[in-house]
Order: sequence, then C-alpha cells, then structure tokens
Amino acid sequence: MPAPLIPPRRRRNWATVAALSAVIAVMATLVAFSVPLYRVFCAATGLGGTTQRAGAAIGPVADRVVTVRFSADVAPGLPWRFGPEQHELRVHLGEEKLVFFSAENLADKPIVGHATFNVTPAKAGIYFNKIQCFCFDEERLGAHRKVDMPVDFFVDQKLADDPNTREVSSITLSYTFFRSAEPAGAKDLSRFNASAAPDPKRGAALFGERCNSCHALDRNKTGPMLGNVLGRKSGAAPDYNYSAALRETAVRWSADTLDRWLAEPRKFIPGARMPVRVLDPATRRDIIAYLKSQERRVSASDSSDPRSQ
Ligand code: HEC
Repeated sequence: MPAPLIPPRRRRNWATVAALSAVIAVMATLVAFSVPLYRVFCAATGLGGTTQRAGAAIGPVADRVVTVRFSADVAPGLPWRFGPEQHELRVHLGEEKLVFFSAENLADKPIVGHATFNVTPAKAGIYFNKIQCFCFDEERLGAHRKVDMPVDFFVDQKLADDPNTREVSSITLSYTFFRSAEPAGAKDLSRFNASAAPDPKRGAALFGERCNSCHALDRNKTGPMLGNVLGRKSGAAPDYNYSAALRETAVRWSADTLDRWLAEPRKFIPGARMPVRVLDPATRRDIIAYLKSQERRVSASDSSDPRSQ
C-alpha cells in the first residue's frame, strides 16, 4: 500500500488549523457586526433603553405626568460641544413635545458625528417614542458651525398600564455623539437652521414619513388630496367628507396659513379632525416647500394640456 501523501499527524494539525481559522473568522465577523447587530436587536426588543420610532402621536393625552430629563456627552476624539437646551420637562403621557439640543463644531474642518442614545430606566425605553431626532442619521457639522437640533417625542400612555413601568415617574434620555465611522452619505446639520433655504427634497422625504399615511397628492385617503393645495380654499378637495369646521372655515391655503395649520391644526381651525401636529418649524418649512414644488409641476403640465386652454 502506498504511504499517504501527508502523514496522519500532519493531517490532524492541518485540520486543527483549519478549524481554528474558521472559529477566528466567525468571531471576527461577529465583532465587526456586533454594533449594528446590537442596534437591530435593541431596536426590535427595546432592550438596553433603546427607544421606539413613531410617525406621529395620535393617541389621547393622559392626565398622568412624568418628568423627562436630558443629558448629553461627547466621546473622546470628537471636537464638538454638545448639550441639551433644557435639562428637564414635565410631559403628559401621550403628549408630543419638542426639545432642542445644541451642537458646535470647534474644529477647523467639517466633521461627521453619530449620536447613540439611551433611556433610563431601560424598561421605559419601549414607551419612549421619537418622531424626529438627529440620532437617526450620520450628521455633518461645518467648521465652527453651531446648530440647534430638534427632538420630537412622546411617552406612550401604555407606560401607565404596564405593571413593570407603572411606578416610573422620571425618565432620562441621554445622547453620546461619536466621530462617525461611516461619514459617506451623512446629512448636513444645517438643515435644522431656521434660516436655511426651504428644501423641497427634504420636504418630500418628510411628507413620506409624516403625511403619506393619510394623504396623497392625487386622491383622497383618510385625509383630503393635497396636490395643488396652495391657493386652494380650505375644505375644497372634491368628494372628500370634511368636518363641518373645515368646510365652513374660509381659509385660503398659503405658506403662512399652512404653517399655522401644521403647527396646531385644532387650534388654527377649532373642531378640525386632523390628529397630528408638526412642532418643528424647519420641518414645516420643508414640507410646505415640497407641496409648493408639486404645485408648480402640476400647473406646468396643466398649461401644456390643450384641454385647459
Ligand atoms: C393621521 C392622519 C393624518 C396625517 C398623518 C396628516 N393628516 Fe392632514 N388631514 C387629515 C384629516 C382627517 C384631514 C381633514 C380634517 C377635517 O376634515 O377636519 C386633514 C386635512 C389636511 C389639510 C387641509 C386640506 C384641505 O383641503 O383643506 C392639510 C393642508 C393637511 N391635512 C396637511 C397635512 C400634512 C402636510 C401632513 C403631514 C405633515 C398631514 N396633513 C398629516 C389627516 C391627517
């Protein structure tokens, strides 16, 4: 019988090396993906004080009040100043609130950061809903620029029904900004500046997140169609069953009236049925810019339509 090419002992060594390499490869992969995996896991389970992301606070507002405290930190290696503009706030469960954090880049060049967040007690995280937050994206801040960043949130009423969290009377929301490991594709924080130019593209994305569930441009859904809404009288979309309040109020929709409507629909037109608000002015500005840009598009195609001559 011919002798085996590799003696059995050497073969065993090779098998061990191969097995060890596989183990190391698996471990390296796990380490590389541990942060994203951890985030996915926490987002799915609410563990580790991860919060929820919501499109709107449309449930009722309860009498029960909790104190929400805010804290902010910067990780070493990121030359930013970062802090909450208010240290605490008392909120009713179900009540949407807007707070601001300010960030300033102390360096001579633009830097991309990423904020991680955490809620304590951790068990309250699943009831802490963020509608808008700078922590959803990688964020670029220009050299020596300063910006006020909105966080739009509410604490779900269910906090009071869950025996596990019923006793919670104060919640702390903490952020830490890190230098981003994936700066490509970052968003620019200047979009939050009140003085920034209206951005219809950002408005389109925000419309998708905050209005689409009830509105379309070209047909009625839960809410009336919004194509060409600028210049239209309130309550005038064909075949939509409006509340008496909206039907009977003669408001003409302009950038100004839309801004006041979106900030507080039921205050602007008492008795109106739209259940959501857009608390952040820069968000309203961009959504209105989007509606305006759609209008131009629709009327441009109208005027080239021979039937409209
Ligand atoms: C949860 C559903 C819902 C969401 C989300 C929502 N709306 Fe509405 N919206 C309504 C309803 C319902 C009405 C009709 C109110 C009435 O008849 O009193 C309405 C009415 C309006 C009107 C008045 C239109 C007219 O013909 O007079 C405008 C403008 C409007 N919505 C804009 C928006 C924008 C912009 C957003 C996104 C920021 C938004 N809405 C999000 C439900 C919604």
